[in-house]
Amino acid sequence: MIVTPDADHIARAAALLRAGELVALPTETVYGLGADAGNPAAVAKIFAAKNRPADHPLIVHLADAEALTQWAREIPKEAIALARAFWPGPLTLILKKEEDVPPEVTGGQDTVGLRVPDHPVALALLRAFGGGVAAPSANRFGRISPTTARHVFDELGESVALVLDGGACQVGIESTILDLSRGEPVILRPGMIGVDAIAAVIGRRPRMPQRQEDAPRVSGALAAHYAPSTPMKMVDALALLSAPAEAAVLAREAMRPRHFTGRWINAPQDAAGFAHDLYANLRALDAAAAGSILVESLPEDGDWDALRDRLGRAVVGSGEQDET
Ligand code: TXA
Ligand code: MG
Repeated sequence: MIVTPDADHIARAAALLRAGELVALPTETVYGLGADAGNPAAVAKIFAAKNRPADHPLIVHLADAEALTQWAREIPKEAIALARAFWPGPLTLILKKEEDVPPEVTGGQDTVGLRVPDHPVALALLRAFGGGVAAPSANRFGRISPTTARHVFDELGESVALVLDGGACQVGIESTILDLSRGEPVILRPGMIGVDAIAAVIGRRPRMPQRQEDAPRVSGALAAHYAPSTPMKMVDALALLSAPAEAAVLAREAMRPRHFTGRWINAPQDAAGFAHDLYANLRALDAAAAGSILVESLPEDGDWDALRDRLGRAVVGSGEQDET
């Protein structure tokens, strides 16, 4: 059920979390499918609802940075500096986990992913609940992340007791994931908080790993992810001039050719705007039931890193028939 996030519904959502039920919540990045991170049986429901492999760890959402010490140990100074600079916000820190963090949350690893989301509804729920909320994106495994309450309902339907409607997510793609558990900072998933912004705070540039290196640990790092079910490809602006009529197009700078009769979406030209609309646009293009989705290639500069990453994985994933 989709509900407005008034005080009563926040209280009800917190009670559901305490009772071990799932609640979908808005964050500034994408909607999350939340469960009490301290309750393994509740966490197990997330994996069942998403059809997600059990060894893929979940991010624990916290009401504030002070809660860090309940979840992580040996917290490096860089983590504190980054939490100060970017929380609440779209940055997830991977740290060594406190002993009693359930292995169901961490995929059996000795690290835990933590972030404080920058959304008033998420923060209100976290405060009312009082604990950590484990929440992956509220989509079926491998599919496009939801950025509206309606997307969540379309993806997961009745398997979620309650969907808090916080409007369209402001950032639109998932948080940057930075691993600080192994001495050297490593980006596990690029996001709208980029390498330069992180380097400006900690005084050194995090490493971008080889694609394969962390693949089993971060589902967002699987080559195929964030995928529409229509075959998708990246093409340059020129190629869009002769886009076939049965295609669905996500253009940035290219203008719609006069003869073109298929679905054509002009995305915002700046990276932040492009990210904000990206998943809703992919859903709309997928729903057009076209023969293919053609996406205009993206600029090479750092602002677009996370977007090239997501679209690259969506292209690979769109070629897969397997829904997981
Ligand atoms: O923006 C976001 O991060 C959203 C919102 C809801 O907060 N959440 C999200 O969750 O994208 P999910 O589960 O779809 O992606 C989280 C990624 C997964 O790829 C998971 O493998 C990785 O975080 N992750 C979580 N804990 C980890 C850990 N201890 N070590 C390595 N990767 C971890
Ligand atoms: Mg996800």
